[in-house]
Amino acid sequence: MSRSGDRRLVRLAGGIFLADGLLRIAGRAAFRAKGTRNQWLGAAESALGLVLLDRAPVEPESLYRVVAPVYDRLSPIWRDWLYRDALRAFDAPIVSALRPGADVLDLGCGTGAVLERFLALNAPFGTYTGVDLSPAMLARAWAKLGHVPSTRFERLDLRTERLPDGPFDLVVSAWALEHLSKPGAVVAAARARLRPGGRLVLFFELDGHSVRAWPLRRLWRLFGAPLVREPEARTWPGFVSLRRFPGVGPDVAVATIAAEPAVAGA
Ligand SMILES: C[S@@+](CC[C@H](N)C(=O)[O-])C[C@H]1O[C@@H](n2cnc3c(N)ncnc32)[C@H](O)[C@@H]1O
Repeated sequence: MSRSGDRRLVRLAGGIFLADGLLRIAGRAAFRAKGTRNQWLGAAESALGLVLLDRAPVEPESLYRVVAPVYDRLSPIWRDWLYRDALRAFDAPIVSALRPGADVLDLGCGTGAVLERFLALNAPFGTYTGVDLSPAMLARAWAKLGHVPSTRFERLDLRTERLPDGPFDLVVSAWALEHLSKPGAVVAAARARLRPGGRLVLFFELDGHSVRAWPLRRLWRLFGAPLVREPEARTWPGFVSLRRFPGVGPDVAVATIAAEPAVAGA
């Protein structure tokens, strides 16, 4: 069988184990079945399912090809409900960095949600460039926002391709850095494209330490998202601040990075 056929088979087996395991656990909880045998079996099956799925992660481009048609309909679930406070905290440094004429770069722009936020907040800017790996997500962004003056969307793989030269006054990114195995390298490249006084304002999902971190880490890796480790983010050059917000899924962070090196003791 081909390599991609092998991966599909591993995904299918993992999905079946995970689903059956979760059903056993949920069934026991729902019917208060006596004995713990079914629950332990369910936990073991779910763990095996996650381990299998971990071996055959989905490539982000394939994932977002499937997700693109429903992304904007689903995203209010996490934007307006699950992570509303964290997203409000993301708005504040963006609004203070934006001014008329500001050049903005958006890493992993998807269907253009961050640009929509600028418009909803009435935040002034000069030019906006959104880059993303997924042609399907970019097509949605163009269709919705292509008419906004001085706006463009470009296909770019943050893992392998050079960022646009800039310079930029603000680099933003939301829900994208967790997809990268080396987010620090992209952050450093983006920072090198800032004008003096410029800022990176980043929103991303974090790896955790709690009991639920293990299944979440594996589930997210299945969707090609290895998550960002907070201690690593705090060492990114130009690091200014990071606020962590608890989530139903992974915790999230709002972080800011400055063009200038941090001044010790400031
Ligand atoms: C959860 S969506 C977030 C989109 C948008 N920023 C938002 O706030 O709705 C994650 C986006 O990251 C993009 N992405 C994932 N890996 C990428 C990579 N290596 N290079 C560029 N974009 C990537 C995906 O295509 C997807 O559009």
